[in-house]
Amino acid sequence: MVSKNIHNYEIDFAPTKDEKSEKNISDLMPLSNNKIGGEAKMKHTAPRNRTLTVSEEELKKMKTRFINLNKQCMLDAIKGNVICQDALECIQFLPEKSIDLLIIDPPYNMYKKFNEVTFNKKTIDEYAEWIDSWFSQIVSKISLTGSVYVCCDWQSSSAIETVLRKHLIVRNRITWERDKGRGAKTNWKNCSEDIWFATKSNKYVFNVDKVKIMRKVIAPYRDENGDPKDWKETNTGNYRLSHPSNFWTDITIPFWSMPENTDHPTQKPEKLLAKLILASSNEGDFVFDPFCGSGSTLVVAKKLNREFSGIEIDEYYCALTLKRLDLADIDKSIQGYSEGLFWERNSLTEQQKIKLSSRKQKGIDNYEIEFDWHH
Ligand SMILES: C[S@@+](CC[C@H](N)C(=O)[O-])C[C@H]1O[C@@H](n2cnc3c(N)ncnc32)[C@H](O)[C@@H]1O
Repeated sequence: MVSKNIHNYEIDFAPTKDEKSEKNISDLMPLSNNKIGGEAKMKHTAPRNRTLTVSEEELKKMKTRFINLNKQCMLDAIKGNVICQDALECIQFLPEKSIDLLIIDPPYNMYKKFNEVTFNKKTIDEYAEWIDSWFSQIVSKISLTGSVYVCCDWQSSSAIETVLRKHLIVRNRITWERDKGRGAKTNWKNCSEDIWFATKSNKYVFNVDKVKIMRKVIAPYRDENGDPKDWKETNTGNYRLSHPSNFWTDITIPFWSMPENTDHPTQKPEKLLAKLILASSNEGDFVFDPFCGSGSTLVVAKKLNREFSGIEIDEYYCALTLKRLDLADIDKSIQGYSEGLFWERNSLTEQQKIKLSSRKQKGIDNYEIEFDWHH
């Protein structure tokens, strides 16, 4: 748990810590040194627990690769790098009009008490003021055709919307149905987050065909000739490639047995970032995340052949980001996104079946071509 008093605002870094603690399977396994820094703890880990951590030795090495900014810089100086610094100090030094896609997952406006550490929720006006204090500086760093996504929960959402409307054209609000949430006795369980979408101008990238979802067809209607109506029959089942909406129900929060999982308390799923990045940028574009945490945005940008950089105040999380970026050199897979298509939750078996059947066909190595999904 991390608490830092930055610019007189006490920041809550752990809106979804509860979900993370659900991930720690405690009683099963040998001890491992799970986290360094102020929170060194010996934790039990389950045999299949793939949670990525950074050792003290690794942190020492990674630190030599962090950069920080103290004067105006060129894009080349930050591309591919992790900036280990307070975003509020650093944003001013970023190159003007350089960011094609800005993805922001800031600390949410929440009060929490964890052991001895108390995190104070601010009034919604104070929170909006804090957001605006750095967002107003980053606006000029976005390219004229650039897009912005900002993640938040319902308690932070109105402040985020107000600040975005002040500076940009707000285009949509995506609601992500998270599969976990903490039950409450006197309130509805919170099981969703918002992601606001805004652009700098009316000219912006939106690759709708890159983010359609493969769904199993429940009602296989046929036209008057008996042919499938907007779905395809395959030897592994019937599927429809459906249009992406602003209500996302197909994304799981990373958990302990997933290779992408880290010990960051509020890590975003790679699949979620893949959707944002594929829809709102092209290969080679520059993607930036000023509160990058465990580096999910940067890692997915790298896997999808975009340029990237991000800021994170905490050294451990910067090291985690670098470790994940190194791993992305070896493994570019993104869970839930396979062969150029997004899949519904719990569809791994179907994905594998389709992959296998398509690869079996001589001369056809790409089932997108075989089933012609994109046309
Ligand atoms: C909600 S988390 C982002 C998680 C990230 N999306 C991921 O997938 O891992 C917010 C992050 O902002 C960092 N942070 C908070 N205040 C900051 C500041 N002033 N400058 C830079 N980073 C900051 C925290 O350490 C935390 O890792």
